[in-house]
Amino acid sequence: MKATAKSPANIAFIKYWGKTDLKTRIPKNNSISMCLSDMFSVCTVEFRKDLKKDEVEFKGEKIVKKRELERIIKTLDRVRKLGKTSLRARVTTENNFPKATGIASSASGLSAVTVAALGALNIKMNTKELSSLARLASGTAGRSIPDGFVEWVKGSEETESYSKQIFPVDWWEICDVVAVVTKKMKKVSSTEGHKLAETSPFYKERLKGMEKKIIRIKKAMRERNFSKFGRIVEDEALNMHAICMTSQPSIIYWSETTVKIIKEVMRWREEDLESYFTIDAGPSVHVICEKKQAQKIKKRLLKVKGVERAVVNNPSTGARLLA
Ligand code: DP6
Repeated sequence: MKATAKSPANIAFIKYWGKTDLKTRIPKNNSISMCLSDMFSVCTVEFRKDLKKDEVEFKGEKIVKKRELERIIKTLDRVRKLGKTSLRARVTTENNFPKATGIASSASGLSAVTVAALGALNIKMNTKELSSLARLASGTAGRSIPDGFVEWVKGSEETESYSKQIFPVDWWEICDVVAVVTKKMKKVSSTEGHKLAETSPFYKERLKGMEKKIIRIKKAMRERNFSKFGRIVEDEALNMHAICMTSQPSIIYWSETTVKIIKEVMRWREEDLESYFTIDAGPSVHVICEKKQAQKIKKRLLKVKGVERAVVNNPSTGARLLA
């Protein structure tokens, strides 16, 4: 009754920000993302008769933060219900990148827990069911289930809000070069941020433009039109952060280094190198480029003061059980 799963982080080109239902994590709008090859979580779940309660370790240390622990236990509870068991589990999990700095650690971490727990109980599900179940743990976790380029269809009911592949892994050779800016965990979690979205006077306007934006970005992806695609990605990131900044109270996820990178990416584009930035709920910056430019971008990012690491990601497969 033991299984190990590996699941990627994902970067959203069109963001999930704001929910119709907080508990079931039904989002206000569809979102579009890509699974990342070099930023992932690995999680082992073992259900055991000798355990009185669930034991959860992150990188060999017990998780003490109540909120983090509860999310994992709730995920196990959902799987236990499906497997009709009350056995407690031992969970060991780790990421190859820092948590809660804008690199979707909840996406990879909680999708890995979901897949490993199902595997341990030998429960089989299709991608739609699986992404819908992972979504309940963390919205973005559902997007780490399918391979490649993904759309999360908002749906209106719990089982109709799921993620699906829109283009396969090898559709387009683009990269996400992630500039890891800090190891410190962010002050306002994305779960809290989602709740504040509607307090921004601009939120309604954001939602009004969403459907058209999604049609436009999918067309750019279908045509592999990088310039068109990149402009939408960057515009969308600024749109989401404008909502954060004008929420009440306001949330500013950026640090000085974030702003420095934004300016650098814009300058490179004017001078000689086409790339576009996007940012999730944290200070790290994702620089999206064509594969042929990725190493050059990595080198340049490492020269920016405050950048701790730069990781080149290709499009990748989604969550998998490891043999
Ligand atoms: C800013 O999935 O972390 O990364 O559902 O409350 O766990 P919860 O939120 P989470 O949302 C993060 C959203 C984002 C944008 C995106 O990836 O779409």
